[in-house]
Amino acid sequence: MTDELPGSKVRIMPLDVEIEVGAEESLMEAGLRSGLRWPSICGGEAVCATCYVKIEEGAESAAPMAPIEAERLQFAGRRDPAFRLACQMRVRGPMRVFQRGVKWREPPATEA
Ligand code: FES
Repeated sequence: MTDELPGSKVRIMPLDVEIEVGAEESLMEAGLRSGLRWPSICGGEAVCATCYVKIEEGAESAAPMAPIEAERLQFAGRRDPAFRLACQMRVRGPMRVFQRGVKWREPPATEA
């Protein structure tokens, strides 16, 4: 479990929310754990490429890409190295990414 491991803070735009990503989970897994709805058709199997993010800042914090991620991004036409699959990418430091389809599963509680 990731509870004991230090996490990395990732800001997701344009929702403008910051989540903690554990060392052993993908960005998408961390987002789902944090109450977000993340675009996905394949459920995180590196097949659909709908989960992709564009890294706006902190690209050096991204763990190296596995061949399956590189192949899927290539096939999807996302050849710019700023594009990564959120279901595959591990994060090693602070970063800001863009993925328009990320939303709250339920609206965050507001103070009355
Ligand atoms: S969720 Fe389908 S490729 Fe990431």
